[in-house]
Amino acid sequence: MKLGKELIVKVVRLNNEAEGVAIKDGLVIFIKGALPEEDVKIKIIEMKKNYAIGELIEVISINNKRTIPLCPFYGKCGGCDIMHMNKELQLEFKKQKVIDVFKKICKLELNVNDTLSYNNNNYRNKVVLRIEGNSIGYYEPKSNKLVGINECLLCDPLINEAISKIKDFIGYYTSHRINEVMIRVAKDELMICIDTINKRWIDKFIKRLDIASCIYVGNDLVYGMDSINQKLNDLVFDISPKSFFQVNPVTAEKLFEFALKNINEQNICVDLYSGTGTIAISLAKKSRRVIAIESNKSAVEDAKSNMVLNNLDNVEFMHGRVEDLIDELKDLNIDTLVLDPPRSGSDKRSLRALLKFKPKNIIYISCNPVTLARDYNVIRNLYEITEVQPFDMFPNTHHVETVMVLERR
Ligand SMILES: C[S@@+](CC[C@H](N)C(=O)[O-])C[C@H]1O[C@@H](n2cnc3c(N)ncnc32)[C@H](O)[C@@H]1O
Repeated sequence: MKLGKELIVKVVRLNNEAEGVAIKDGLVIFIKGALPEEDVKIKIIEMKKNYAIGELIEVISINNKRTIPLCPFYGKCGGCDIMHMNKELQLEFKKQKVIDVFKKICKLELNVNDTLSYNNNNYRNKVVLRIEGNSIGYYEPKSNKLVGINECLLCDPLINEAISKIKDFIGYYTSHRINEVMIRVAKDELMICIDTINKRWIDKFIKRLDIASCIYVGNDLVYGMDSINQKLNDLVFDISPKSFFQVNPVTAEKLFEFALKNINEQNICVDLYSGTGTIAISLAKKSRRVIAIESNKSAVEDAKSNMVLNNLDNVEFMHGRVEDLIDELKDLNIDTLVLDPPRSGSDKRSLRALLKFKPKNIIYISCNPVTLARDYNVIRNLYEITEVQPFDMFPNTHHVETVMVLERR
């Protein structure tokens, strides 16, 4: 197939990134924005060894689950990538993705629950945006080209109010030289962290951003309190700038309720990759003793104060990498072990250590089905899957959060 060639193809399915897949003369073609069963006109824009990339020119016959994206920046800014699917198709896609990945990596026909979803837009409590001149926005996918935005439909309305005020400010103070801004919200408290090499105008920035509860320049707090406060179910959490916190708190509440629904009056529980302690502290209410491991120092500090904030004292927070500290758990008789690693998943060393301790139950929370399946392969001889529940933690994007409940055989 020649580069630049235009042709009409039928889309047969979606791949894991939610791109349409078509096959022409034995060649697999990935087409962003195309949906199954659609006939589409495309242009070949990249030829790889085993596949090609096609650019969507025209949808000739339309899948009835296609919808018109509400956001004017959709397809340009890279913030989300499945807004052209209606909600029903988005949720079907996420469930199917988990099934397909397990089929491919584990050779397993997995029984997966329907995807649970609790919101659609305005769900994100954190965003990181780039600033160039008087534009604020995201980079185009796979490039350093800034796409200026006025608001982001995925973000909490208070974040959008902050974006609009920052846009006003950078339009007026052209000497600002802010490179990047992180905006985070917890209920009605707003945190703004800016990265800049020039602070002369900071008092004017603070005055203009009068809706902020705290403002940081780099690591320095220049206005307000040092953290913001988020409620999750009946617990409260202090979040500081560098700590991980769930980006969709409404769905996170439901996910934690689901993940911990069978845990009651346990003796010893473990929480690996514990962040600011959300899961460990939830577990602490249902067990005698909890041990948590997390590598980010400021998240561990937050977690310790969060335990006190919630009038609990039975969690031991260990600071360090799971793979380095896991052996310290070897003499414990663990009832339930929860792990919620980053996208890259856990690692063989930690998983093999788990096989020696043999916790009765494992609850694996994952934002990447590929690493979830890879890690499951390491422990599958000893653990049986009892339930798999996908959550729509990141609506309008191809990402899915999955809770996998496992029981020792
Ligand atoms: C998906 S987050 C989960 C956080 C937490 N469970 C929550 O709900 O807030 C993953 C966490 O793992 C931490 N992390 C990444 N690699 C790690 C490692 N090798 N050992 C320990 N923690 C790690 C990150 O700092 C982050 O806080």
